[in-house]
Amino acid sequence: MNSVLNSERVVRTFVEYFEQLDHRRITGSSLLPPPGDSVLFTTSGMHPLTPHLEGRPHPLGRRLVNVQRCLRTTDLEEVGDNTHLTVFEMLGTWSLGDYTGSHSLRWGHGLLVDGFGIDPGLLYATVFGGDERSGPDVESLRTWQEIGVPVELTGEENWWSNGPTGPCGPDSEIFVWTGEGPPRSTPTRDARWVEVWNHVMMRHRCGEDGTLDSLPQRNVDTGLGLERLVAVLQGKTSVFDTDLFEPWMRTVPPLWDLDLRSLRLICDHLRSGIVVVGDGVLPSNTGRGYVLRRLVRRVLTSLWRADPSRTIGDLPEELFGHTLDHFGQQGPSGRIRDVLLDEERRFTQLLERGRRVLSRPRFCGPLGEDDFDYLHDTHGLPRDLVLGLRADLHG
Ligand code: ALA
Repeated sequence: MNSVLNSERVVRTFVEYFEQLDHRRITGSSLLPPPGDSVLFTTSGMHPLTPHLEGRPHPLGRRLVNVQRCLRTTDLEEVGDNTHLTVFEMLGTWSLGDYTGSHSLRWGHGLLVDGFGIDPGLLYATVFGGDERSGPDVESLRTWQEIGVPVELTGEENWWSNGPTGPCGPDSEIFVWTGEGPPRSTPTRDARWVEVWNHVMMRHRCGEDGTLDSLPQRNVDTGLGLERLVAVLQGKTSVFDTDLFEPWMRTVPPLWDLDLRSLRLICDHLRSGIVVVGDGVLPSNTGRGYVLRRLVRRVLTSLWRADPSRTIGDLPEELFGHTLDHFGQQGPSGRIRDVLLDEERRFTQLLERGRRVLSRPRFCGPLGEDDFDYLHDTHGLPRDLVLGLRADLHG
């Protein structure tokens, strides 16, 4: 594998490869989906393209490529391991009713092997094997067999949709072997097979009642998580060891002495906090603002476990500036930092109030639902926080 590829080269190689195949680059959107959209944040590169996957012509044509920032909070508890992040960048390509899934898989394989130098013997693909609603994805299976990549057939793991309703379809995922020695087992049985690229044959729409209709056109929607791909290409076990996190990993450990999992969680959540504020969200008790608030509170809870005098203000402003630049966001970085510091002050006050209230005799014994309601409604203390504070107060 090519260990000299830095993340910028990876992005450039990807985009140029598809530009040569007549794709036009679209500008990535912010994390905020367009008004009227039901999701809080963009979770996949296809999201801003939904109307065009459903048939509305795109001004740049039928072959598109982009880099889109995404936010996922479904795997929050996994953050701190080698691969999970809240904000990540997705490299994506689309055929809007143009070429077939088979073309997409062949080009994808070509880029991984010839463009990125991955040994073809280290690849494995998964393909949708069919269920009661839809038959197996025979075209993808045949394509991989022709290319010579081993295939594992699966069920719902290889059906992709952005939510309970809307565009969806069978997908084919490409995995790279990251273990020592020759590849073993299969992607669903051995976690050392790391998924790098998902190709969705997006030709259905799922209705409210779960039934599938055909979309007016047969699309292909693909996505690669940049951080994960870069980790594989740079031969790193973890996304946090790639050049994408280098400024964080250089700056944070000398400031705060943290175990590895907390270090990663703090870097991930702070980076996401900066990007979310950079896209215009402010902390609040509902919707997007609440997601931001949770991220910041998780950072502070981790940070203060060993030393309550730590503050987000310990971080140099350059780290904020670097993150905003990387995601192509407008600063000023000082304002973003102030938003996070303000949230830190609120949380400090809330914890002080919580400790005061919970030390009252009424709350020393077991708490009932009415106590939780009272603490929440009268003192603004959420259940999780109450439980955490009681554990601290009463052991
Ligand atoms: N939309 C597909 C995904 O996010 C490519 O995996």
